[in-house]
Amino acid sequence: MPKVTIDGHTIEVPEGTTILNAARMIGGDVVPPAMCYYSKLKTSGGYCRTCLVKVTKGSEKDPRPMPKPVASCRTTVMDGMEVQNKTAPDLVEARRGVVEFLLCNHPLDCPICDQAGECSLQDLAYEHGLAKTRYEFSRRTFEQIDIGDKIKLHMTRCILCYRCVKVADQVTDKRVHGVMNRGDVGEISTYIQNAIDNDFSGNMIDVCPVGALTDRTFRFKSRVWYVNPVDAHRDCPKCSGKVTMWMKGNEIYRVTARKDKYNEVIDWICNDCRFEKKEVSDWKIDGPAKIDKTSVISQNHYTVKAPSHKPMLNSVNMVGSKQIGE
Ligand code: SF4
Ligand code: FES
Repeated sequence: MPKVTIDGHTIEVPEGTTILNAARMIGGDVVPPAMCYYSKLKTSGGYCRTCLVKVTKGSEKDPRPMPKPVASCRTTVMDGMEVQNKTAPDLVEARRGVVEFLLCNHPLDCPICDQAGECSLQDLAYEHGLAKTRYEFSRRTFEQIDIGDKIKLHMTRCILCYRCVKVADQVTDKRVHGVMNRGDVGEISTYIQNAIDNDFSGNMIDVCPVGALTDRTFRFKSRVWYVNPVDAHRDCPKCSGKVTMWMKGNEIYRVTARKDKYNEVIDWICNDCRFEKKEVSDWKIDGPAKIDKTSVISQNHYTVKAPSHKPMLNSVNMVGSKQIGE
């Protein structure tokens, strides 16, 4: 098994593992950000360059460093490889440049964007962004498009990560995929519009790292940090039926797939579970959802209330970051 050292942490990984996945096996600060790679989607990655790392030693056999930063989601580990992520100041500077490029055309409309609070670009810009833009040209703009009655496309916010295109291609059963045009006139729109009737098209919303694809049934209803994530399940003939419900009191504001600590969907869910089941009686509550992601929504984790209290949501209650009585 090849051995790789990332930011001073050494790990043995199966042959063919990418640097990004090796870093994920180590965990913590060693893991580069990823805006387009998605472990559940084949051939994802290689588009956004946010996962850049510096390879200071190529391998045991050929110890020469790689001449420029490489995309860790697309570069395979070699035995003896040494990699820097956060420990190389020039690499951090390069990533800052990538973020600046991503923000060239991205509108700073977080105050009115439904993705605010769970937007990967917002987190990335917070960590690596400049306080003000140096971009002097007009930003590209697009009309908003309704992709069916459930999904809204703000192409203006899209960073062309291709994740939704891969969902349309791999998760729905229609082969619709592709990005029209290239460069600053590139857009996804009509290709994924063709996938709207599919039972799994709502997953495009979950994979979108920014607010380009949003849930029309949830838009402008609440900021995400005002709703409580609760894990629930139901017997669904189409999907696993395991979801996260976003609730205020006993009202379900939206339903999403459950996500892991890299903000990636664990199980794809069908549109029935996502859009049609908005009554508490439709679900069996598993308990408060654990949000691992470092974002505003992971603040104020909710804990299980002492059983002596009046039951709500099948005996699980949402309270602040402390147990009642603490
Ligand atoms: S709409 Fe979202 S998921 Fe699709 S390419 Fe744009 S940023 Fe990526
Ligand atoms: S996550 Fe590697 S290039 Fe986008």
